Amino acid sequence: MHECFLDTKPADSTPLMPVVEKNFRPWLAQQEPTLERWLTTTGFTAKPGSLCLVPGTDGTLDAVIVGVAALDDPWACGDLPAKLPVGSYHLVAASEPVALESMTIGWGLGAYRFAHYKATDPVGAKLVIDPACDAELVKTQVAATCLVRDLINTPAEDMMPEHLAAAIATVGRECGAAVTQIVGDDLLAQNYPTIHRVGRASAHAPRLIDLRWGEADQPQLTLVGKGVCFDSGGLDLKSAAGMRLMKKDMGGAAHALGLAQMVMHMGLPVHLRVLVPAVENAVSGDAMRPGDVISSRQGLTIEVDNTDAEGRLILCDALTEGSAAHPALLLDFATLTGAARVALGTELPALFTNSDDVATGLLAGAEHASDPLWRLPLHQPYRAMLNSTIADIANAASAPFAGAITAALFLQEFVSAGVDWAHFDIMAWNRTSQPGRPEGGEAMGMRAVFAYLRQRLGA
Ligand code: BES
Ligand code: ZN
Ligand code: ZN
Repeated sequence: MHECFLDTKPADSTPLMPVVEKNFRPWLAQQEPTLERWLTTTGFTAKPGSLCLVPGTDGTLDAVIVGVAALDDPWACGDLPAKLPVGSYHLVAASEPVALESMTIGWGLGAYRFAHYKATDPVGAKLVIDPACDAELVKTQVAATCLVRDLINTPAEDMMPEHLAAAIATVGRECGAAVTQIVGDDLLAQNYPTIHRVGRASAHAPRLIDLRWGEADQPQLTLVGKGVCFDSGGLDLKSAAGMRLMKKDMGGAAHALGLAQMVMHMGLPVHLRVLVPAVENAVSGDAMRPGDVISSRQGLTIEVDNTDAEGRLILCDALTEGSAAHPALLLDFATLTGAARVALGTELPALFTNSDDVATGLLAGAEHASDPLWRLPLHQPYRAMLNSTIADIANAASAPFAGAITAALFLQEFVSAGVDWAHFDIMAWNRTSQPGRPEGGEAMGMRAVFAYLRQRLGA
């Protein structure tokens, strides 16, 4: 799993020296004449993303000079695993330990390959984790991010609700958690009508997956993740372009699981519960229809205005169950709306929360982890856009404005009063490749939340 890292430094490890582009000239003037001449000869100017291999007199690799924008750029090493020759390397940087840690994480994330369906070039470069870093903390964050990416990148055919359940069971087994699930018609018997209704049209039975870990006397942390394994839109079918990436619609579930894995690996002092409603939003004779009404677990009746607003439907019964125990903190992750992407673009997850303290803590966690979040308001007056003439609430707004906010307001109806709750509307996908962030599935905001939890729990 962590083939890209070494815990101890081999004798022949090559130093990696980041140089800030704007400091390049004075830095160059201070170097040995041979090195200065080599860098000039090869035209190296420390442009961010560039590197220079420095040979020793015997033809071995003496050092690698890396151009960076700043010594605390978390992605400074993101391209290196792919670019460097086979061998072991160590960072020689005058950076704070937290910056060193994020650069090391950046290396680990840059070494990620999704090679399940096509052979890819193996990464032969290994980074020695600096003793100033918490190696376990680095590795657990890299592993969880790679888990999230793998789950999202896996095609829907191979990541249906039963596969998602198996993935959660595997993590549970590795971490000593208990995993159960309620499948198919049992969802009706146990009063999860919305999960059943959204998922009943699929050949792959819908389910609610439930992971529990830790001691009951610790503060309860409950994570909920949208597990729509494929979102065709249902009868209000998506366009071809809109459907193309919808294997990623279980990205919220992947985030909840990745975060849970970090919490368990690092042994945070919480009583953890993960709830994943997992469905395929499919089309068949049994599909829910626009205009149908579903009576939710909580009791509110919901008019299905649009079958493509399925995420909030499955999340509402999970949130009702999750808030019933009045956890200290309830978090949900979901690829919920296109509107959140219109508002903030694809790289900035929207954060909604009913607690200003939680918001402050999460935004500080985002800063600490170089994993951005942006808060949007739970603007109550917009709740009126969800009014239905025949039911308590509609699943989609009557006006094409503030779609991320109205989706969050819908979810809030199912969170018990007094529960601290935060909702993350995420893209879970890199549109293009950037250093450390290859095109494809991505964890967004997950390491920010983990930083907040560690801070909040004094871990
Ligand atoms: N999974 C989509 C939202 C989505 C689309 C997230 C593209 C990220 C990228 C969700 O189920 C959906 O289709 N939402 C609709 C809601 C609308 C019908 C009220 C949307 O955003 O258009
Ligand atoms: Zn949808
Ligand atoms: Zn969806």
